[in-house]
Amino acid sequence: MFPKAFGAAVALCLAALGGAATAADTTDAVKIAAGKAYFDSTCHRCHSVDADKKSYGPLLDGVVGRRAGTFPGYPYSEALQKAGFVWTPGALRAWMEANDKFVPGTKMRHVGIEDPTVQDFIVTYLASLKK
Ligand code: HEC
Repeated sequence: MFPKAFGAAVALCLAALGGAATAADTTDAVKIAAGKAYFDSTCHRCHSVDADKKSYGPLLDGVVGRRAGTFPGYPYSEALQKAGFVWTPGALRAWMEANDKFVPGTKMRHVGIEDPTVQDFIVTYLASLKK
């Protein structure tokens, strides 16, 4: 479902940086950039990461470590309001893969990101945002 060219760009980018530096920071920077690109193409039309911008879905800035269904003022489904868990990287992966199975009754449309690498990129990007 993602353009092949994008994967190629990421691979190129990884190859270019891989030789030059092995620091974990560099790997993270690449993952964050890739995650942002996936986020922008798959999630951004419904989710803002900027508190000054209104979005159809809840703001995702600071979502890692936040209790599900608790962003102030957002009209969550009853299902998510009652979910009662905290968004960990693992919970976010399960949500991206099958949000409607993870929290039955959610009003978020199924996105179905099954590739663990892509899940990892998006989670790393979300975790890098300010809280
Ligand atoms: C078609 C619009 C749409 C798309 C696309 C979308 N979302 Fe959502 N998202 C929503 C809505 C609406 C909710 C609120 C769900 C509810 O209340 O049950 C939500 C809720 C969430 C939550 C729960 C936040 C909280 O405060 O508990 C997370 C996390 C999330 N989305 C992540 C993502 C990610 C990551 C993507 C991209 C892979 C994505 N969403 C794509 C509409 C969307």
